[in-house]
Amino acid sequence: MAELIVALDVSSACEAEAVVKRLGATVSFYKIGLELFAATGPEVVARVKGQGKRVFLDLKLHDIPRTVERTVKSCGVLGVDLLTIHSSGGRAMIRAAAEAAASFGSAAPCVVAVTCLTSLDQQDLTDLGIGRPMPEQVAALGSLAVGAGAQGIVCSPQEVAAMRRLLGPAALLVTPGVRPAGADVGDQKRVATPAQAVRDGSTHLVVGRPILDAVDPCAAAQAITADMLR
Ligand code: C5P
Repeated sequence: MAELIVALDVSSACEAEAVVKRLGATVSFYKIGLELFAATGPEVVARVKGQGKRVFLDLKLHDIPRTVERTVKSCGVLGVDLLTIHSSGGRAMIRAAAEAAASFGSAAPCVVAVTCLTSLDQQDLTDLGIGRPMPEQVAALGSLAVGAGAQGIVCSPQEVAAMRRLLGPAALLVTPGVRPAGADVGDQKRVATPAQAVRDGSTHLVVGRPILDAVDPCAAAQAITADMLR
C-alpha cells in the first residue's frame, strides 16, 4: 500500500518537532531535506525518530563510491528508513550505496535514486552534452539505478506509470509534485492528485505545502490519505 511522506520543509528542529506533534498519528513518515539537515545537523533525524516516526533523508548523494558508501553507513547509524542518491553518480557509486545500506540487515535503509532533476529541461541536457530526449534519459538512469541495486527511484507523477512498466512491480517509486484536486500547485509544474499517483504505481507520495500551509494540517493529511485509498 502506498504511503504518505510529509516534507519537513522548515528551518529548525523545533519547527519540525511541532509539525510532527501536530500531525500526530495521521502521519508516520517524514522527509528531511538539505535545508533542514544543514540547519540542524543529524540531530533532527534522532528527534523525529524519537517521536516514533520513520525518516526519509533526502540528501541526494553524488560523490565517489567510497564517500557515498561511508555516508550511507552514517545514515544507517542514524536509523534513516529511506535515502536518496543520484543515478548519475554511476553504477559503482549506486552499488556502493546499496551494499552499504544492505550491511544494516533488517534495519537497512532503502536507497532510491534521482534520475533527472525535474528542474532540468532538454536544453540543460544538451548543455551537459546529453543528446537523447529527456524521457529516454530518465528511463536509462532509472534502469541503471535499479540494475545496480537501488530499490527504486524518485520521479514526477507524470513519469510514474512509464517507470512502473519499465522497472517492474517491486521498484519503489517516490513521487513529489502531488496536489489534492483543486489545490494551489505553487511552483510545481507536473502535478497529479494522490489518487492518480497511486493508480499509476507510486509507492511513496511526498507532500509539503498542501499540508504544512493548510489551516488544519491534520485534516489536510487525512484528506490526502483518504484520496490515496480511492
Ligand atoms: O510543497 P511540496 O509538496 O511541493 O513539496 C514537495 C517536496 O518534494 C519538497 O521538499 C521538494 O523539495 C521535493 N521535491 C520536489 N520535486 C522534485 C524532487 C523533490 O518537489 N522533483
